[in-house]
Amino acid sequence: MTDSNKRPEMERITTPELAEAFIAAQLDALRAQIGSGRVLMALSGGVDSSVVAALLIKAVGKQLECVHVNHGLMRKGESEQVIEVFRNQLGANLTYVDAVDRFLDKLAGVADPEQKRKIIGAEFIRVFEEEARKLEGIGFLAQGTIYPDIVESGPVKSHHNVGGLPEDLRFELVEPLKFLYKDEVRVVGKALGLPDSMVYRQPFPGPGLGVRCTGAITRDRLEAVRESDAILREEFALAGLDKTVWQYFTVVPEVTSTGVRDGRRVDAWPVVIRAVNTRDAMTAEIEELPWPLLQKITARILSEVPTVNRVLYDMSPKPPATIEFE
Ligand code: XMP
Repeated sequence: MTDSNKRPEMERITTPELAEAFIAAQLDALRAQIGSGRVLMALSGGVDSSVVAALLIKAVGKQLECVHVNHGLMRKGESEQVIEVFRNQLGANLTYVDAVDRFLDKLAGVADPEQKRKIIGAEFIRVFEEEARKLEGIGFLAQGTIYPDIVESGPVKSHHNVGGLPEDLRFELVEPLKFLYKDEVRVVGKALGLPDSMVYRQPFPGPGLGVRCTGAITRDRLEAVRESDAILREEFALAGLDKTVWQYFTVVPEVTSTGVRDGRRVDAWPVVIRAVNTRDAMTAEIEELPWPLLQKITARILSEVPTVNRVLYDMSPKPPATIEFE
């Protein structure tokens, strides 16, 4: 690791006061680096990119151009929240790109998980590149790189860091969080006034719901993943588990089973609920969910998601399972 990539001697940011001091120093540093230049960034709505955007809006306001790409694999309400917070509340320049059909058409019939990840990553770069070319006078590219991204290879931020841009779009990087750990990023995000639902978000993979709709993605199964995930998140929040469980989501595997609806036998999809705790994502234990909560979530999914006839709870730790299904 080069010296410029080594965390300087600094106190761990654990309090609002330390966060304020970090923010004040970063605002000076960002203004010094950027001057009157224009900055481009891809805003996914994840914790890191949201905190970078909020810092830059404070530092250089309208000199920042945010691009939010909806690849169709976002969770329910996520793109809407990005627009509400950044465009409506913080007044950012934000281009919303509806690329849903583009991504889903490219992914049609592709069953191999790595191939799916590659397609999503490559298409993301392509969409971002197209948007970048429409803007004039961009000199900087802001990214939500954090310290663990530099230190370890870790779970890859496959498409968040848009390093694969062509030569003429390789702008000077702006990475204000590159020496921070995740918990510090959250303290800074809170101090910047971002909503709790953004700051304390559970980890969400770059390929989004795409890896939770196993095998070749179809629109009906994707919709079943999105709707069941929204129900799960709502019920976890009501039960206060959103603050304690590390990662929780639903998966719709590519397999049907027989069920009965209106007195007729009909095949439909199952929904698998997964809720795990971990320190570093290398190993994970399952959360011991209260039985009544599982029953409530099951009842809601079965009545509100018409393409589903079974709800299962995944009891498998990592290893031998992984956290995601693919
Ligand atoms: P696994 O499934 O390998 O996941 O136990 C470990 C952690 O990594 C996340 N994950 C990803 N994150 N791009 C990402 O940005 C990916 O392709 C990806 N695959 C898995 C997963 O959600 C878990 O937190």
